[in-house]
This record gives sequence, C-alpha cells and structure tokens, in this order.
Amino acid sequence: MSYRIPLIKPFINDRVKELVDEVLDSGFLTEGPVTRQFEESVASYIGVPHAIAFTSCTTGIETALRVAGIGAGDEVIVPDYTYPATANAVKIVGAVPVIVDVDPQTLLMDYDKMEEAVSANTKAVIPVSLFGNPLDFDRLMMAKERYGLLIIEDAACALGSSFKGRKTGGWSDMTVFSFHPRKFITTGEGGMVTTQNAQWAEAMHQYKHFGMGKSVGREEMLFQDTGTNYKMSNLLAAVGLAQMEKIDDLLNERMLLAENYRKLLHGNQKIRIPETTGNGMHSYQSFAVFVPDRDRVMRQMRAEGIEVQIGTYALHQHPAFQQRGVRLRGQYPGSIRAWEETLVLPMFHSMTSAGQTEVVQKLTLCVE
Ligand SMILES: Cc1ncc(COP(=O)(O)O)c(C=O)c1O
Repeated sequence: MSYRIPLIKPFINDRVKELVDEVLDSGFLTEGPVTRQFEESVASYIGVPHAIAFTSCTTGIETALRVAGIGAGDEVIVPDYTYPATANAVKIVGAVPVIVDVDPQTLLMDYDKMEEAVSANTKAVIPVSLFGNPLDFDRLMMAKERYGLLIIEDAACALGSSFKGRKTGGWSDMTVFSFHPRKFITTGEGGMVTTQNAQWAEAMHQYKHFGMGKSVGREEMLFQDTGTNYKMSNLLAAVGLAQMEKIDDLLNERMLLAENYRKLLHGNQKIRIPETTGNGMHSYQSFAVFVPDRDRVMRQMRAEGIEVQIGTYALHQHPAFQQRGVRLRGQYPGSIRAWEETLVLPMFHSMTSAGQTEVVQKLTLCVE
C-alpha cells in the first residue's frame, strides 16, 4: 500500500545517480574504491580513524563481537526494547544475551538494571541509541571502568546524534550503524562499524573478506583465518557516499521537523514525547510518541493515508528469546509500556509544515 504521507523517503538526488552511474560505467561493481571513500566519509564525519562497511548493522554487530573474542560461555547484556538483531547477533556468535529492561522515559537501556546484570561471565554490553537518542556515556564509562566491560553500541538509528558534543560513533569501543531504508542515510541495505582500535579494524576487514589478510614477506594475500563475505559493493557505497555529502543539511532539516512536531504537540495531554538523554543531541531517526490505544490509533492513521509505525519490539515476548541460551532478567515494565504505546510519525527530508500539521491534527482526533 502506498501512503499519501509516508513514514520516510530515501534521499535520492542527481548526485546519487551520477555516482551510481560512474560505478556502473567503471564495471567495478563489488567492494572497492567507492566503498573505501564511503568508509572514509563516515570516519571523518564522526572523527574516528576507522570505519568498516558491512552488508548490514546485524552483520556488523556479529563481526564486532567476533573480533572482540566473544563467544561460547560469554554473556552480553542487551536491552529488551530493541530490534531483535541486537540480541540475535549475540546468539549467532554462541554467547548468551542477558536481557534487561529500559528506562520508560528515554527508552534506552536502564543503566542500573544493566549493572545489576553483570556477572563473572559478562564480557560486553550492547546498549542501543534507539531512534537516534544518544546514550549517557557518563553512566556507561563509569560502568566500563567498574566492571571492565566492552561497549559495542548498536547505533543502527543514531548516525548524527551526539553526547556532550562528541558524535555517536566516537564514544563506544565499537559502534555499529545501519543504512537500511528507514535510516536517513541509506544504501538500501548496509552497515558500518566505527572504532579507534586499529587491530579490531584490521580483524573486521579480514573477517568480512573471507579471512584474507596481509602477510609479511609475500606478494599475495593469505587466508589467515576463517572468514565470510559481508562486503558492501561499490554500487551501494556510491548511494551512501553521495548522501554523506548532504548529511549536515539532512540532519538540520530533521531537527527543524522535530522542533515543529514538538510545537504542534505542545499541551496535548494524551500524546507524550519520550525524553532525550541529558547533554545529548537526538538525531530523530524516528520521531516516536506515546499514545493510548496505540494499535487502534495506528490503524486509523493508516486508513487516513498516513504511514505510522510501531516503535520497536519487546524481545522477551518473542519465542526466539524464550529459549535456552538467553537470560531474561526480572520484569520489563519499561519495555512493555514502550512496546504497547509508542508510535513513530512520518518524517522525511522534503516534508512540509502543512504535512506535519495534518499528521498532528489527525493524531489528535484519533486519540480523543
Ligand atoms: C536498533 C536496531 N538494531 C539493529 C537493526 C538491524 O539493522 P540492519 O537492518 O541494518 O541489519 C535495526 C533495524 O532497523 C535496529 O533498529
């Protein structure tokens, strides 16, 4: 079904088409120099030395866990309210996801619950900067110091956000972004891991290239270890590279759209906006609100031609996370509330103020 007001629209301008055409004309379609340029553009935007492109955020998280040596017998703490990919990546490497509740105001991992879940087997945490809301690194760095935890951030939705002026991607040991079409920089499918650690960067590069690595004293590359194929093609990278040229404009536009939604929703007692992390700058990948009777409201909005979507999932409610090899911890009131009540509103680069007014007017009628 196509909607009059869609949830998001990919930003495809002439420059995107020009760069894709160049790749097509070059005949070099697999991963190559354009992928390197895309990686460099993300690394320099964030201010980190290394960015490694992947086929998705999911394969990026999996590889980050692998190069950190996390596997069987290890525990990794993840939030309950997230896309299943966060916890699936932990299961895929053979480790145990330990699932904790989220803060009902920010929808991010409850840091107290995270600390309570640390055991002798805990190797890492995967906090999620959900919807573009940055993590509180004052809290996370304290926990890192106290427990020696590795922080692998799932920043699928958080490119462009920052905490205390430092961009997401520059804080965690490894940060993983997504370029799925729900994201404002999109390659169709794709992901990227950023890190300051040259050894991990090299190991990630090797793993996603069939295990192929440099060898001292020989001309040709050697297959140093088991690896796979999680490469991003030049074709997809060209789309992302062209969009990265516009990232500041696209982000500013999202800020203005978010500000306008805030104004339009101001004073509405039935529609509540989640809180942004203190000292954080939200990138508003998704503009989420809490509404009563969410499923009915969602159906009615869609029937009006306005594409709205649930926020994300409460993992503990799904069979995939009720199996052996997953540790559920306590109750999940924050996550259940978020799962039941959040609704994501349309937001895209050319959205008009009139479009936003219509969304809020219809939403207001629906929640009455
Ligand atoms: C929080 C979170 N993590 C991971 C993913 C998976 O990203 P990808 O589709 O690039 O694998 C998503 C998807 O939107 C997500 O929202």
